[in-house]
Amino acid sequence: MDKIQINGGRQLKGEVFISGAKNAALPLIASSILVDGVSTFENVPRLMDISSIFMLLEDLGASCEFEGHTFTVDGAGINKIEAEYELVRKMRASILVLGPLVARFGRAKVSMPGGCAIGARPVNMHLSGLEALGATISIAGGYIEATAEGGLTGNEVYFDIPTVTGTENLMMAAVLAQGQTKLRNAAREPEIICLADALNKMGANIRGAGTTIITIDGVSRLHGATCRVIPDRIETGTFLAAAAATKGDVVVRDCVPDHLGGVISKLKATGAVVDTFEDRIHIKGSEIIKHIDIKTLPYPGFPTDMQAQFMALMTIAQGNSMIHESIFENRFIHANELLRMGADIKISGGNIANVRGVSHLQGAPVMASDLRASASLVIAGLIAQGTTVISRVYHMDRGYETIEKKFEGLGADIKRLSS
Ligand code: EPU
Repeated sequence: MDKIQINGGRQLKGEVFISGAKNAALPLIASSILVDGVSTFENVPRLMDISSIFMLLEDLGASCEFEGHTFTVDGAGINKIEAEYELVRKMRASILVLGPLVARFGRAKVSMPGGCAIGARPVNMHLSGLEALGATISIAGGYIEATAEGGLTGNEVYFDIPTVTGTENLMMAAVLAQGQTKLRNAAREPEIICLADALNKMGANIRGAGTTIITIDGVSRLHGATCRVIPDRIETGTFLAAAAATKGDVVVRDCVPDHLGGVISKLKATGAVVDTFEDRIHIKGSEIIKHIDIKTLPYPGFPTDMQAQFMALMTIAQGNSMIHESIFENRFIHANELLRMGADIKISGGNIANVRGVSHLQGAPVMASDLRASASLVIAGLIAQGTTVISRVYHMDRGYETIEKKFEGLGADIKRLSS
């Protein structure tokens, strides 16, 4: 297994280019199941999770090509409605094939995703939403089976909590349903708008994406289209946090500053100077990093996917910071690794972390436990005195494209140790 080695203490300087968003690319690629023809997706990042959905679609009978950053799917050959355990267990987001399969074929069998390092992550709202559209759901042998032989029928769907992939699954299911569907208390993430725009390009009729009520008028069929994946706001935020933590001076390019409102205002509160332009952000970190409090919330609130990176930044802030994780129940595993590097963090009540800033971190061997935790450890390694070696970086490879090369381009002393 590869490791990442970082000799810390260098300020990041220069420009970095942001890749397409993993969490926008995955639902877009899943939506190709709805089309009996060719769909093309541009700006797709080269990541492990994209390889996982490639394999899953090919296993269903689709024909996929991934050249450079362009991903093409011909859904005409899909002849299997079962997403197998061996493929789904590699990536929870495989649940995104459930909605489109049942919408197009009236039947789907998808291995039930288990929990993961950050929490139990149930899919009950995906299933109750599909039931509201007329699907019969059963769970047997670790598989979810959904049937709607005569097709799905539009209906009202209310989400108890805004769910990102739940909203995406239901949107994809409803586009071919008979009549109108309204998704209420829908998630509002930019990735939802990206998917709605793509589906509309394929001939769907979706309004209100990006608000809490999404209205979908079913159509009889979709056609192929060429759609572009939006820039990755979490990768953008990760480089901004790293720049602030190293007191650097960085321009982050090919991003959408508007998708990072919460992150940018918290960075400004640390004392960083942040200037936004149409598709780039210029950040100058402050010599003295001020403490801040954060509560993770659904978009447009502060993203849970940026919590770990901000915890690394707060380890060297002046004073005490409080981080309240309100989305996932177990998303502080990185705190224990940061403690090994000399951070002062106390977890209370399971979802509150009190971070007392220390003068510096020290390099240490540490272990990544999930995707964003691995980014947090990279930031910690960049600011620490001495050498940090991060193991289990396969977590990072799931969601950050050539991250060590990008940090190297900003002047970091970082390299991959291949096993
Ligand atoms: N939830 C339920 N029941 C459901 C669905 C969700 O109780 O049926 C709960 C979850 O347990 C959680 C909350 O609702 O407490 C919100 O979860 P959500 O469904 O929005 O998460 P997700 O769709 O599984 C996506 C991203 C995650 C990101 C979350 C939150 C993708 C592929 N994944 O997950 O990304 O953290 O939204 O923003 O879009 C990552 O990229 O590292 C990552 C984990």
